[in-house]
Order: sequence, then structure tokens, then C-alpha cells
Amino acid sequence: TVRTITALRGHVFQFSGDPFCDNPAEALTDWSDGLVVTENGKITAVGDAAELLKTLPDDAVVHDHSGQFILPGFVDCHVHYPQTEVIASYGAQLIEWLNTYTFPAESKFGDIEYARRAADVYLQQSFANGITSASVYCTIHPESVDALFEQAARYNMRIAAGKVMMDRNAPENLRDTAQTGYDQSKALLEKWHGQGRALYSITPRFAPTSTPEQMEATGALWKEHPEVLLQTHTSENRQELEWVGELYPEHPDYVGVYEHFGLLGKGCILGHGIYLNDREKSLIHETGTSIAHCPTSNTFIGSGLFDVRGSHFTHEPISVGLATDVGGGSSFSMLTTMRTAYEVAQLQGYSLHPVQAYYLATVGSAKALYQENRIGNIKVGMEADFAIIDPLSTPLIRHRMAYANNVIEQLFIQMILGDDRAIAATYVDGKRVYSQAA
Ligand code: GUN
Ligand code: ZN
Repeated sequence: TVRTITALRGHVFQFSGDPFCDNPAEALTDWSDGLVVTENGKITAVGDAAELLKTLPDDAVVHDHSGQFILPGFVDCHVHYPQTEVIASYGAQLIEWLNTYTFPAESKFGDIEYARRAADVYLQQSFANGITSASVYCTIHPESVDALFEQAARYNMRIAAGKVMMDRNAPENLRDTAQTGYDQSKALLEKWHGQGRALYSITPRFAPTSTPEQMEATGALWKEHPEVLLQTHTSENRQELEWVGELYPEHPDYVGVYEHFGLLGKGCILGHGIYLNDREKSLIHETGTSIAHCPTSNTFIGSGLFDVRGSHFTHEPISVGLATDVGGGSSFSMLTTMRTAYEVAQLQGYSLHPVQAYYLATVGSAKALYQENRIGNIKVGMEADFAIIDPLSTPLIRHRMAYANNVIEQLFIQMILGDDRAIAATYVDGKRVYSQAA
């Protein structure tokens, strides 16, 4: 058998604990001249370069990222790849935004060639921003799902994705039925889940675009296939909340609709969760459901402010990951997404610690996907996905970094001032998939 030993040398960062505690900085471990050794897509050693270099065989390839930060690849736990073409659409809040921009864009994805090109654009944008895993919404067209998984398979990327199900309150050409939504999702999950690193996520868009019959069929499908994930939206916008109350009058609240149909549980990722009541929060906690915090989307479409402090510092904490939510989100940059998460917390009187922000973008999102033993951290046995940050990527950052007192401040400067220019390279499955042009 061929052994492919590749090592990355640079300033290596690892999460050794959960930073949502009294002393967040203690959750971070770093090696300023560190080495990460990988073999066939898995991490086999992490530590000081001086020591580990001696253990490498002569034919090992060492990528020199000295002076750069080696971080776990970012995990975007909620994104819509077909909406890449409508990112930065002006002047509408959620429901109007969906009808005006999103649905027309999504209607094109029955054409598999179109979908393939869009999937490629999406993946290149993700890699250029250090994103190595994501939980992705496709469209109602099975072709849109095949296209994305096919493109991601070229990199053996750990990607989760699913066919959107909608059987009401959407244009005719974007509706399936309870039966076809079930049948197509089942066929797709049998085809793709577990192929290489692919994961299937059952994807009912949100309660307003599914009839109770479709919700029922969705719950049945997840019960038959508990090994796959499930993703949907909840409690993003006040008008949406009111609408759900009208469409599902017999349920106590929005999350209660998903509860009723068996859609909560480990591996369920609910997008947004801004206006949750205490009952809903308890349910999310008890069932092991996660929330995808999408700060650039929540500010850009004017939805509201997610309470990241309240979800962690309570006797019933909620699992939270960080997400771009493109095209409602306004950036593919996870650094910009962290910056906006910081700003959203600031507006609520809480200063999100930089170690907490990076944790949400890596371990937090990996936990939302129930993949934290495989992705989101740099530890022996985990998969070899990395984001490499050039900490001096612009004149302003270079100037500011000269005044940083420690590594925590350096990380904070990157998330506040950095963007795609700060991503020097991205590795997926031990191989370089992106490198910034010199
Ligand atoms: N709610 C239902 N669909 C969507 C979507 O595509 N984007 C966002 N941000 N919210 C949604
Ligand atoms: Zn979304």
C-alpha cells in the first residue's frame, strides 16, 4: 500500500476544551513552530516541529507555512449553494426576499449542467475562504443534489447536503409533493450518504412551505434512516413566526411543529432560532438538536439578533454552529461571519471571545453535524482539513499586528479585519485545494 505522508509546518492551533466557560483562552492550545502530520487524509501527529520533523520518513512532503496560522478547516453548518448568484440582493426581508430573488434563482437547478457549474463556483468560494465542510441546501430538483455531491466528490470533501422539499407556498415549478419529496429524498440518500465522505441531510425548507402531509412523510423518512442528518429553518423573522402560527394553529409554537412530526433530534440543524421561547429552547436542548447561527444573514435581511450568550450560559445549553447562510448571508468569509457574530453579540451587551468565535466556526459547527470526532479540530485521528491564515494579509492588518500583545489578540485582529485575502491556502482530505495566487 502507498503511504502518503504530508506534513504542514506553521503556527498550529488546537481546541483542547470548550471556550464557553469563565476562561475561554484556556480552551486553546498552540504550537508557534508546530507540525501537523497527515497520512492518507488523517492526522497522525501534532506537536512541535523540531521534534516531529525527526520522525518523518525521507519521502514525506512538508508544506512550509511558517509564519502562518494552521487552523482546523472552517465548517459552514448552513448554506444554500444555489443562492450564490443572488448574494447581495437589495431591499427585502425574508418572505419578500425569498419570492423576489431566491425562488427565481432556484428554479434553474433542474438543469444539471447549470447546477454543476454553480456547485463548482460555490465550492471554489468556500475553499477560498478556508471552508472545508458544509451543510448545504440544494433545490427541489434531484439534479441539484447530484451536481453538488459529484463536484464535492472530486475533493473527497466531508459535505452534507439534501434536496429541498416544498409542497406549498412556493411557485408551481418549485413544488414537489409529500410523496415525490419523500421518494426523491430516499433515493438520493441511498445513493449518496456514506459515499466517500458525503453525508445526506433531509431538507424540508421550513414549516410554511410544507403541508402537514409532507412534514409527516419527512418524519417517516428520518425514522427509517436515522443515520442521516436533517436541516430546516426556524424562528428567523417575526412575519414568518406569525405565518407559522396561522398555518399550524394546533401547535404551541414554531419548534413545536417540528417536534410534532418527529423532526427534532441529534443531527437536526435548525437555521437561525432568533425568536425561540423557553419551551422551544428546552426542547432543542433535550433532543440534542442544534442551531445554525447565521449572523451576516440575520443583519443583512434584517431578521434580528441571535442570543449566543443565552444559548451557552444556561442550565440547558444549546449546541450552536456558525454559518454563512449565503445568499441570505452577505459573505462566504468565515472571518467576516465571526466578526458579525461578535457585533451581533455586542449589540446585546456580550463580547464574544475570539476563541469562542473560532470554536463556533470549527468545533461548534462540527458538533451541530455530529461529526466532531472527524472534523473541526486538529487532533490525532481526525480528518486532515485545514485553513491556513496569512496573518499579515493587508497593510492595515500588518500595521495592527505589530501592536498585538498575544496570540488571542492576533486571532481577534484576523476575524475583525481579515477576509478572503487572509486565507493563504486550504487543505481538504490532506490535499491542497486552494492556494492564494502569489
Ligand atoms: N427560510 C426559508 N428558506 C430560507 C432561505 O432560503 N434563506 C433564509 N435565510 N431563510 C429561509
Ligand atoms: Zn438558510
